[in-house]
Amino acid sequence: MSTPLLEIRGLSVRFRTPDGVVCAVDQLSCVVERGQTLGVVGESGSGKSVTFLAALQLLPPGAAEIEGQILLNGENLLTRAPAQMQAVRGARIGMIFQDPMSALHPLMRVGDQIAEIVRTHAGASRAKAHARAVAALRSVGIPNPDTRARQYPHELSGGMRQRVIIAMAIVLEPELIIADEPTTALDTTVEAQILELIDELKVRRGIGVVLVSHSLATISSVADTVIVMYAGRVVEYGTASDIFSDPTHPYTQGLLSSIPTIDHGRGHLVPIPGSPPSLIDLPAGCSFAPRCVARIEMCTTERPTLTARTPTHVDACLVPPSARRITPASVPAGTGDQ
Ligand SMILES: Nc1ncnc2c1ncn2[C@@H]1O[C@H](COP(=O)(O)OP(=O)(O)O)[C@@H](O)[C@H]1O
Ligand SMILES: [Mg+2]
Repeated sequence: MSTPLLEIRGLSVRFRTPDGVVCAVDQLSCVVERGQTLGVVGESGSGKSVTFLAALQLLPPGAAEIEGQILLNGENLLTRAPAQMQAVRGARIGMIFQDPMSALHPLMRVGDQIAEIVRTHAGASRAKAHARAVAALRSVGIPNPDTRARQYPHELSGGMRQRVIIAMAIVLEPELIIADEPTTALDTTVEAQILELIDELKVRRGIGVVLVSHSLATISSVADTVIVMYAGRVVEYGTASDIFSDPTHPYTQGLLSSIPTIDHGRGHLVPIPGSPPSLIDLPAGCSFAPRCVARIEMCTTERPTLTARTPTHVDACLVPPSARRITPASVPAGTGDQ
């Protein structure tokens, strides 16, 4: 088998804080193939952002203890000196972060912001950099890119601003895009357009995509593979059809029951009761046990490890599969062949 585009092996990230050690990510492993989207899902605080900030060496220096390997085309990025990582970020890995407003400079024309990236990384002339900026705006579906390039962020709608941010992420033609909650600030129509754009870039350019979201519904239409995180750990990992048609972990089943489906509409939504645990001094046993409807006695004392259910599908659950709550195979709204 060929080397995956991105492989994360046994990543753990801990922060020392005055209250104790925050175990934000614990032994996370996953793979992103070229031309595929890995969806990363979990409630707020489950370690999604920290995972990919650590991968890019973007956590505040000295704040975190990081273990594991981040292999980009087989090369471990964690052994790179910080200065060498700058050559990777932007050029080989494009990033789209959670907060769209802070990603754009309010007083700079959007075309200049994109051109500056090209000049910094590729050392292109002013004219060439500008031309690449305009081409990037065009490739993310911005009409009249020449005119738009001369505008300031506040002159653009939220959806257009997000397209500009995506243009910044792809202008250097990276092999991988990491998009962390790229649509959280957008309304559903614009969200669908942005997801479609990211999906199209994946197909058109054959790049790998990591799409991080707190919502399974958001990733359902575009993910090829999915990891479900809970309290800093992977609880389930499989292909999109494993996760959406045959979820085996009670947490994933709960997440799926709490989003509207085409069959059931909103009437049958069942939110997961309770909230995630503190990542300081996680309880012994399964972190999800206190909220789990399928919990058995050993769940509060023994920690589940990831176990293969099929060759593509793993989960971490101690409850015998037959005793877990079986949800009917359901397709989240906004997905499928409609
Ligand atoms: N610099 C930091 N110092 C201490 N704790 C942090 C730091 N950054 C993140 N955390 C903690 O790590 C956990 C995971 O955060 P994060 O990855 O941002 O979650 P999310 O899944 O919502 O993206 C949270 O409990 C957060 O408070
Ligand atoms: Mg986050």
